[in-house]
Amino acid sequence: MLLLNKFPAWLSVFALLLLTQEPVSTSEVTACGLAVDPPANIEITDPGFLGYLSVHWTQPASLQNLTGCTVRYQLRYYDTYEERWRSVRTVKLTYAAQFDLEKPVKVRILTVLKCACTNGTEVQGEENEWVYTPETTGVAGSRIRDFHCVYYGKEYMECTWESGPVQPPNSQHYLYYWHREMDETKECPEYIILSEGRRGCRFPRESLLEFSKFNLCVNGSSPAGSLKMAYFSIEVQNHVKPTVVSSVHVSEIDGELKLDWSPPSGQVPEHCLEYEVESSITMENGKEKQMVLQNLEDTSYGVPREAESQKTCFRIRSKVNMYCADGGFWSDWSQTKYKETQYIPKWTYLGLVGLVVIGIAGVIILCLSLWILKKICIKKINKKDALYTLYKEKVNETMLTILSPIFK
Ligand SMILES: *[C@@H]1O[C@H](CO)[C@@H](O)[C@H](O)[C@H]1NC(C)=O
Ligand SMILES: *[C@@H]1O[C@H](CO)[C@@H](O)[C@H](O)[C@H]1NC(C)=O
Ligand SMILES: *[C@@H]1O[C@H](CO)[C@@H](O)[C@H](O)[C@H]1NC(C)=O
Repeated sequence: MLLLNKFPAWLSVFALLLLTQEPVSTSEVTACGLAVDPPANIEITDPGFLGYLSVHWTQPASLQNLTGCTVRYQLRYYDTYEERWRSVRTVKLTYAAQFDLEKPVKVRILTVLKCACTNGTEVQGEENEWVYTPETTGVAGSRIRDFHCVYYGKEYMECTWESGPVQPPNSQHYLYYWHREMDETKECPEYIILSEGRRGCRFPRESLLEFSKFNLCVNGSSPAGSLKMAYFSIEVQNHVKPTVVSSVHVSEIDGELKLDWSPPSGQVPEHCLEYEVESSITMENGKEKQMVLQNLEDTSYGVPREAESQKTCFRIRSKVNMYCADGGFWSDWSQTKYKETQYIPKWTYLGLVGLVVIGIAGVIILCLSLWILKKICIKKINKKDALYTLYKEKVNETMLTILSPIFK
């Protein structure tokens, strides 16, 4: 209870409330002639870590002199972030868990007994539930909105917010954060200040801790009173947004379009990245075809060129893959790179072939006709000559017959 001294007044009230709320019940469940009572002196303390609360208890008095038994405790608590009950079993007398201090804190606990006299079977005592609704003070409607954090290239994180629907004049916002390697909460290292006032916080990489709860709270003060507290708990590795993919290069080799790029700069390890390539193909008829390729692991990619494509544009973005985080944000798209492909439209091609064929055919026909014509002409001349000779012979003959008497 010494710890409570350094907490704000409302937290002490909270811890005391829980103590006085403890039900003084004895269990109906018995084992080996003993009542299996729920744990005693349950106490929930807030060390001031923005929702990371500790639950403590003591062994029930009825089981104190028991030998040859293992006593365990089953703690169930409502995870307000995932909206489900979580269950743990422990032999210890304490457990720490993350709660959302804007919502009721619900804890259920029971004793589990396993003894030689129970023939090695487990006996579960009755379960007791504690619910505590943290008191929320502050000007109604002043809680901040649209809070979200982006861890840029794993180099720095920015958490931003909007003011609440009610923003008392001259109010000032504060952000506090904590993770398990810190002894106490700290105020934002560098506020992002817009014309309206503080609207975000920038965390250098050194102030963050991955794979651990990273708790944040935004509160505020104003002449009209304090603003309502807003609590958040994130895991920073799930908020990474890689930087833009740069140096994208497209080439065409043997009818295949090949795309190469460099991994984004920043601190995200290469094996933690996946890529998405979006290609937009302009076809010969002016139509566009879009294609998206997802879950690419390498920094290169080849695709056969579409026969009827005139121009193919590519852009790439990246994200942390499922092997390295449970979530993340897509980077911005890279610059669009394109490849124009020398395409001879079909009709021109056919036309050309046609022209050539017609040309050749024309020449052949011409030659053929000339040859035939020549043949015919030669024959006619020959015929003429023959006729002339025949005629001459005939004339000579006739002349000779007519004229012979004269010359006789
Ligand atoms: C346990 O043992 C102590 C001393 O041996 C005794 O005073 C106490 O009453 C016992 N408790 C129970 C629950 O039997
Ligand atoms: C344990 O087993 C014995 C015999 O095997 C039996 O007589 C006894 O009732 C059992 N006790 C419990 C608690 O099951
Ligand atoms: C805001 O919250 C922090 C951490 O709990 C606390 O130390 C501080 O006093 C609070 N400020 C206001 C104005 O409520």
